[in-house]
Amino acid sequence: MEYENLLKLAKEATAKSISPYSNFKVGAALETNDGKIYKGANIESSSYSLTICAERTALFTALIEGEKHFKSIAVVSSSEDYCPPCGACRQVLLDFCGPDLEVVLNNSKNELKVIKLSELIPFSFNGDYLNK
Ligand code: THU
Repeated sequence: MEYENLLKLAKEATAKSISPYSNFKVGAALETNDGKIYKGANIESSSYSLTICAERTALFTALIEGEKHFKSIAVVSSSEDYCPPCGACRQVLLDFCGPDLEVVLNNSKNELKVIKLSELIPFSFNGDYLNK
């Protein structure tokens, strides 16, 4: 299966989650167009809103390494259900990865959903509005 390795790495990343408040562990694996993969996990703050999600941890790690072109991101959690990216992550992923990013999700039954980011955040704001 095409996304097996990416999902496996996202699952592995859940072990790095620092989530003492929610106990909800999330892992992400972000793949660049040339096949490099960056992992991330959620890191929670006692001031809850300062928490950072797994998707943004992975993305920011890739960005500081100079990566610019992204193909797909897998997101996995400790729950049995799919873990679709939150609204804030959808916006940030759109800003840096663009509408064609593939968002790869699975659940504990190993059912797969692959969704284009543009479907998850339609009629979106983006940097073009700021340059007019
Ligand atoms: N979380 C993520 O890491 N990614 C998501 O897409 C949804 C939510 C985290 C944030 C917080 O640490 C915990 O899950 C519960 O909201």
